[in-house]
Amino acid sequence: MSNSFMFKPLCFQTEIIETDSKELHNLLLGEKEIVFVIDKKVLNLNPSLLSGFADQRIIPVHATEEIKSFAHAQTLITQFHQLGVNRSTIVCGIGGGITTDIASFVASIYKRGTRLWLIPTTVIAMADAAIGGKTAVNFEGTKNEIGTFYPAEKVFYNPEFLQTLPYTEKHNGLFELLKISFIDDNVKLGRQIFTDGLSMKLILTSVHAKLKICINDLSDRGDRRKLNLGHTFGHLIESIYKYKIPHGFAVGLGLRIALRCSREYELINDETFTAIEKRLSQIPLTVFLDPETLSKIKEQGKEILLADKKNTDKLTLVLFKGLKPDIVVHSIDYSDRVLEIIIEELGKQC
Ligand SMILES: NC(=O)c1ccc[n+]([C@@H]2O[C@H](COP(=O)([O-])OP(=O)(O)OC[C@H]3O[C@@H](n4cnc5c(N)ncnc54)[C@H](O)[C@@H]3O)[C@@H](O)[C@H]2O)c1
Repeated sequence: MSNSFMFKPLCFQTEIIETDSKELHNLLLGEKEIVFVIDKKVLNLNPSLLSGFADQRIIPVHATEEIKSFAHAQTLITQFHQLGVNRSTIVCGIGGGITTDIASFVASIYKRGTRLWLIPTTVIAMADAAIGGKTAVNFEGTKNEIGTFYPAEKVFYNPEFLQTLPYTEKHNGLFELLKISFIDDNVKLGRQIFTDGLSMKLILTSVHAKLKICINDLSDRGDRRKLNLGHTFGHLIESIYKYKIPHGFAVGLGLRIALRCSREYELINDETFTAIEKRLSQIPLTVFLDPETLSKIKEQGKEILLADKKNTDKLTLVLFKGLKPDIVVHSIDYSDRVLEIIIEELGKQC
């Protein structure tokens, strides 16, 4: 007779803290063992944020997708090592999703994990990247290929960061909020995005909706996979356009492609298609793609789609289903029709 033991799945706690610049500064100053990985741009825009801290405790990074790499992770590890960072040191990542992803990744592997605080400063980082614990670096052209699940202890929300965000960054962030509104079937959130415009209240509604899903599925094997709605296609687009397209716009395009595929695979009828399309089209996709790059999708699209870490020989897509609309994780055999849909949708932006 064999014995077996069951352990509770990994659970996590993240404290969401609304704050302002003064309070945040005081809170940080109260910590003795802290090191900052901060987006250079954010540091320049907020010179007083880290005043009072020794320069060597402040590691500025130039936020581009290129720094989400093993090579840069190693640079940070070397800096941590030289600074004497240990497991009880707080690594505090400050910036957009690029900075929070790499800071969290290094915090999760250095000495098998340091403490981690995050201060997201873009809509995407506030609503998505800084919560739920996914850390990542890109690898050999594949987005977020290497990473860990390592939720931050505390995530700080300061609306003042939104004031310096360029219009494009605010606009492209709305697509992540829109995605959440479908997954949580939060029609109210969906409506508020169009009527009230961007606000911290809206972002925090989305944060709570995302955490509700992640809390029971930290490792992304169940319902959490629905959060990848629009992302398989979004990652393909980002990869083909060498990350020159903002992440939210890639997700926005990905949502439209997912909608088309949902109808193609008869998961939704025409009526549902039109209802979802109406919701999607309320946020304009102000992105212009160069047609030459588009031709690369014909050559490389299949390979990239199948190389996505969620796919093996089949395509695993997150699609719309039914009237509600519900979201399903759908496994299908690869079909050239998917590629045709992608090319048709991207062609509209050329
Ligand atoms: N880990 C996750 O669950 C998760 C989820 C969604 C996205 N992501 C990742 O997030 C990244 C995209 O995030 P992003 O859009 O925030 O990109 P980003 O970090 O590049 O920030 C966008 C731009 O805004 C600038 N910026 C940041 N804060 C600013 C501020 N307050 N004022 C003015 N400018 C500011 C940055 O310097 C950058 O130029 C992608 O790499 C994506 O893969 C991760």
